[in-house]
Amino acid sequence: MTEAITNDKLIEQFNAAFGQSNEVLHHFYAPGRVNLIGEYTDFNGGLVLPCGIERGIHLLVRFGAGDSGNKQRGNQQAGSRKSQSHAAFVSANLPERVTVNLAEPLVRTGNQWTNYPLGVFQEFINVECPLQDMQLYYYGDVPDGAGLSSSAAIEVVTACALNTLYSMNLSTIELALLSQRAENNFIGVQCGIMDQFAVANAMADRAMALNCNTLDCEQVPLKSADYRILISNTGQRRELTGGAYNERVRECNQALELLKPATGASQLADITPQVLHDNIDLLPDPLIRKRATHVIEEHNRVILATDMLKNNDLTGFGRLMVDSHQSLKDNFNVSSTPLDTMVELTLQVQGVLGSRMTGAGFGGCTVTLLHKDAIDELIETITPAYTNAINLAPEFYSTRAAAGVREIIA
Ligand code: GLA
Repeated sequence: MTEAITNDKLIEQFNAAFGQSNEVLHHFYAPGRVNLIGEYTDFNGGLVLPCGIERGIHLLVRFGAGDSGNKQRGNQQAGSRKSQSHAAFVSANLPERVTVNLAEPLVRTGNQWTNYPLGVFQEFINVECPLQDMQLYYYGDVPDGAGLSSSAAIEVVTACALNTLYSMNLSTIELALLSQRAENNFIGVQCGIMDQFAVANAMADRAMALNCNTLDCEQVPLKSADYRILISNTGQRRELTGGAYNERVRECNQALELLKPATGASQLADITPQVLHDNIDLLPDPLIRKRATHVIEEHNRVILATDMLKNNDLTGFGRLMVDSHQSLKDNFNVSSTPLDTMVELTLQVQGVLGSRMTGAGFGGCTVTLLHKDAIDELIETITPAYTNAINLAPEFYSTRAAAGVREIIA
């Protein structure tokens, strides 16, 4: 893990970006997440099993006017008669510094990082939250484009800040739903609820067995004296807005429409593997058949994996992780050569119980369950082997399950 940044350092960086002021500085934090099993089940009403990680996004906020010197006036109409509250956004990690007029409709700009907080601002504007001038500084150590939900962490930390500062009294579940709407409507990715829910509701040393249909969530103990979670970053960046994700959503909906009349299901996760098997002829297109097979079997794997976790059967859990990866590769076609190579090399290391791609795929990270004594050897052997095969430098983050979004009171 990287050295955690101190509060003093963050304040120093905030003041360097916006200047000193007597206004109170508020500090919020949201972790990234890793999904242990249950991929592409969330928008199909299925189960997922993510946990928070020990990397995240800090947000420092202060009321007051932004720096007018560097404004991006994209959303401003000449001669507007509306009031002029501005939000100024700076990130320690990314170059664009953006100021927007909150009295005008907010607009999405290319793939700019500020689209994520702006989508959340838009949701608060929609419920007539009286937003004032404010300055926002983001600092993160979740690699972006790596499947660890850095975007959801930015959304949820922003939602938590506005909720707290404007006393909106939204629960962490409502913050997750609001952030998901921001992603669906402003960013245009038709994602499910998993990432925002996990970032908002994670608990230390717990995995969340989340039913994405009802939002019932069981916090299952995830703490072992001997076993650890290791995240391996393939170094292959993933761009989620690239359409492939929304294409999977459409394909799943297509499968559901074909299965609905015979099964009465209102979502794919309602269908058991046996019922799918009995009705497989209703899906003549092999591609749609594979998509449905993945979702239905993956949902079933989460049911089994959650029980195994509760019964401390980590060996069984690891086997299901491997099955999950295979299905994401062959049935859902969201893996990649770097991800497959990382999983293959990882499974050769003694002490590894299971490994799979995590998140949306198309690059990003794998998640591995392994004995604590295997970590050093894994990193030592895989780094050269993976680099030789793929020509990218991998990174490894060992993590415990970490708590969700909160205000940090210094
Ligand atoms: C992304 C989405 C989630 C989920 C995963 C795949 O992370 O944001 O809603 O669908 O992909 O499991």
